[in-house]
This record gives sequence, C-alpha cells and structure tokens, in this order.
Amino acid sequence: MKKHDLIEIALKARELSYSPYSRFAVGAALLCKDGSIYLGANIENASYPLSMCAERNAIYYAHMEGKTKVDFVALAVVGDTEMPISPCGACRQVLSELFPLDAPIYLANLLGDIRETSIEELLPFAFDSSDL
Ligand code: THU
Repeated sequence: MKKHDLIEIALKARELSYSPYSRFAVGAALLCKDGSIYLGANIENASYPLSMCAERNAIYYAHMEGKTKVDFVALAVVGDTEMPISPCGACRQVLSELFPLDAPIYLANLLGDIRETSIEELLPFAFDSSDL
C-alpha cells in the first residue's frame, strides 16, 4: 500500500474522533503485513485526562486482535495542524514499546504536508524494559 493511501484511511478514521472538548480531531491508520488496517481516532472525556489519542487507540485495537510489533508495517497519523502533526510524548513512549523502531510513520496534516519518520527518530534514548 502506498503512503498516500494509508494517510487517506487515517483521514477517514479522523471522522470517528470524539473530541468535543479540544475540537481537535486526529485520525490514525496502522497497516499490518497481512494487509489488515487498524483505525484509531482520539476519544475524549469530560474528565479530560481520561482522553485517549488516535495513535494509541489504533495500536491497542490491533493488540486486542492479536497483532504485535512483528506484524506492523507502517502507521499514518493526521490532524489539522500547520505542519505535519507531532505525536504526544505518551504516544511516543507507547509506540516505542509496541511498534517497530524503524518502521515508517507518516505524519500528515489537512494541507497535504507529510513528514516520514520512525519511532527511533521521534523518541531517541527511550525508557524501556531494559531499564527496569
Ligand atoms: N491527540 C492525538 O490524538 N494525537 C496526537 O498526536 C496529538 C494529540 C489528541 C489528544 C486530544 O484529544 C486532542 O488531540 C488535543 O490534544
């Protein structure tokens, strides 16, 4: 699958965002080797800290379907930002454990800007299980 197609799917996932508090909708699409794609959108709550980001919803959804790090090919994330969206620190930490370190992550906005990166680039010197 081409990166633009995965970004388009993340854009569709964004429509499922529940973000009445921030009014900032984010969509994510996680591509697996078997061709399956897991969607995520941010889901907020009146108790604000309980809100969950699009990226984490996508990867937790995949996890609950039995998918692990070895199954993932690429992740796309889209938000209405000036520059391609930048994942929050919590999502970087979760992705550093559950997503392949060097797999492509496509960050995009609604203007068509795309930044291709990886979790090792987004979160260098991450805290991980070897630190415990
Ligand atoms: N958010 C995401 O879902 N992903 C990101 O990469 C950045 C932030 C959500 C969290 C919250 O629901 C809203 O965007 C505003 O922070």
